[in-house]
Amino acid sequence: MIKDSKLTVVGAGAVGSSVAYASLIRGSVRHIALYDIASAKAEAEALDLAHGSQFAAHTDIVGGGSDIALTENSDVVVITAGAKQKPGQTRLDLAGTNAKIMSQLVPPLLEASPNAVFVVVTNPCDPLTTLSQQETGLPAERIFASGTVLDTSRLRWLIAQKAGVATSSVHAHIVGEHGDSEFALWSTATIGTVPILEWTRDGERVFTREDLDQILSEVRGAAYKVIEGKGATNDAIGLSSARIVEAITGDQHAVLNVAPVLSDFHGIDGIAMSVPSVVSAAGAVPIRETPFAEDELDRLKASANTLRGVVDSLS
Ligand code: 2OP
Repeated sequence: MIKDSKLTVVGAGAVGSSVAYASLIRGSVRHIALYDIASAKAEAEALDLAHGSQFAAHTDIVGGGSDIALTENSDVVVITAGAKQKPGQTRLDLAGTNAKIMSQLVPPLLEASPNAVFVVVTNPCDPLTTLSQQETGLPAERIFASGTVLDTSRLRWLIAQKAGVATSSVHAHIVGEHGDSEFALWSTATIGTVPILEWTRDGERVFTREDLDQILSEVRGAAYKVIEGKGATNDAIGLSSARIVEAITGDQHAVLNVAPVLSDFHGIDGIAMSVPSVVSAAGAVPIRETPFAEDELDRLKASANTLRGVVDSLS
């Protein structure tokens, strides 16, 4: 871990508090600053976490929102502030409102932490990342969206449940938009070293092509289902974000499906979207050698076009 690593979480709502909580219990960083314009809320959330810190890894936690100095010299800044999806709303519906919030938020945060890696969780995280990268001029690797790290976790969980194996033994990826046009790289999906369609349980093949389509549909609908039931998603995105933070503060060079702005990636340029990327203290670098089947490349470009449409509408 970067010595004395510091994480700033911007936004002390359900998602931001969950990012801070997950980072605390996983021991992702040494210092956490929870920053929100609702200063009293941020202070209270930080205090509530600090009260439990005896039971977690040694981490200093502070909260507030009246002074940007609270966020100074962060190694990682995770941005969760903004309007959240209401039942039935898509992530892209939030673009206009949250783009304005991001434009105001990012410059002072960058001034206070000029060397930080920025992770955008606020939705729609991909277009907002593209706009922030354009506006700040940060190198693409240093500002990226949490993207489909969460969706990939949902996919692996669904496959593991049906296959009867540990989630960590499922090697499958969701890429593209963190949203309705995301898709799975089935051509390289394996359980252990077994291609997913060849996996058997009690001598019978477990997955048909229809099963895979159903699983992808459940991944795409996962957030809507949780939002319908509890009003928001927060726990899984909190854990996903803490995982990303660890790859940065631990300089892990871990492969995660985060969303940096791509350049000349199979002909895709200037759009942030999730592809397998190496995440380290330097940020996120897309893996150009990622194999794509013909239909997967078509879907990747379709997802890029969807996202470009949103970015163009906001520019
Ligand atoms: C999620 O996928 C809402 O983007 C959030 O849980």
